[in-house]
Amino acid sequence: MIKIGIVGGTGYTGVELLRLLTNHPNTQVEIVTSRAEAGKAVSDLFPNLRKHYALNFSNPSQTDFSQCDFVFFATPNGVAMKTVPTLLEKNIKVIDLSADFRLKEVAVWEKWYGMKHSCPELLADAVYGLAEINQVEISKANLVANPGCYPTGILLSLIPLLQTKIIDTQRLIADVKSGSSGAGRKANVGALMSEVGESFKAYNISGHRHWPEICQILNIHADNPVEFTFVPHLVPMIRGIEATLYATLLQDVDLATIQTILLEFYQNKPFVDILPLKSHPETRNVRSTNICQLSIHHPPENNRLLIISAVIDNLVKGAAGQAIQNMNIMSGLPENMGLNQVGLLP
Ligand SMILES: NC(=O)c1ccc[n+]([C@@H]2O[C@H](COP(=O)([O-])OP(=O)(O)OC[C@H]3O[C@@H](n4cnc5c(N)ncnc54)[C@H](OP(=O)(O)O)[C@@H]3O)[C@@H](O)[C@H]2O)c1
Repeated sequence: MIKIGIVGGTGYTGVELLRLLTNHPNTQVEIVTSRAEAGKAVSDLFPNLRKHYALNFSNPSQTDFSQCDFVFFATPNGVAMKTVPTLLEKNIKVIDLSADFRLKEVAVWEKWYGMKHSCPELLADAVYGLAEINQVEISKANLVANPGCYPTGILLSLIPLLQTKIIDTQRLIADVKSGSSGAGRKANVGALMSEVGESFKAYNISGHRHWPEICQILNIHADNPVEFTFVPHLVPMIRGIEATLYATLLQDVDLATIQTILLEFYQNKPFVDILPLKSHPETRNVRSTNICQLSIHHPPENNRLLIISAVIDNLVKGAAGQAIQNMNIMSGLPENMGLNQVGLLP
């Protein structure tokens, strides 16, 4: 049994880790932390987990993680970096769902996250946990930086097309919509039902923290630095992200050929589902699953512009599910172990 600790077990990604791990046959959650709920039973706070966990939340500052094989950080940015070096010294593997280890350049990280990084020496060794792309590196890693929710769907869509050099690296545009759980469970006026319900807005148009993360990875897969525009939106739903991506084709390539490229690229990847041509992915079809569904299109009378629509569940493939997929890969287990949930419909 893989022994697991979760720091930040009362947040949306933390409780999603707990929910998903009930289906994992090779894991045992030993520790789950919360400062505000320390001492309270997990099932008192989350009745959906009754009969699955006989655990109480513990205070992270008074918790010894030595018994754990893996610790997941489902905490705000700037928390994991303070404890990760000590855990790695004890040979405990770490998967960080926050952004502390996603960027390679410390100056870029400090600029976008507005704080000093406390262990920049670990940035070089941390592996970016986009499981379909970095599987070999992840399998050898002790520290995995789980990707952000927005970057996951965008990167899975664009990387195969950049690698095969059929799209222009310039004028890449991502118009992306997220449900409100993307902002976490903490009290926040902007996330109240009366603020987000029956409304729809773009935000952080002139700079979202996921922009440098996405550019960093796209640049690795393109020959020259990409020019990438990213506009996130908040839509009145709880879970789900839909990314509409625009890319210019470098030559006349028909959709069937691009479809074949994508199908071949992801042929052994259980969690990327390339839909038939003319399909329109819907967030509800991947709700509660670790799957990214995507489809490709041209606008009318413009065969040079490629439009991709991709959907994920931000809390699963965009966070906790991908983190468990990474744990499986780091442990030499099938990457889909415990992650074969079918989407909840209607
Ligand atoms: N929500 C998403 O869709 C999503 C997707 C991908 C990645 N992420 C990232 O994943 C991380 C967690 O997101 P979330 O949405 O689950 O956040 P959240 O709902 O706000 O939960 C944060 C959790 O961290 C704990 N926490 C807060 N400050 C802490 C500290 N200083 N030390 C230890 N624990 C602390 C909180 O419990 P206590 O305060 O009681 O300790 C809570 O359990 C964030 O970095 C987020 O950016 C989120």
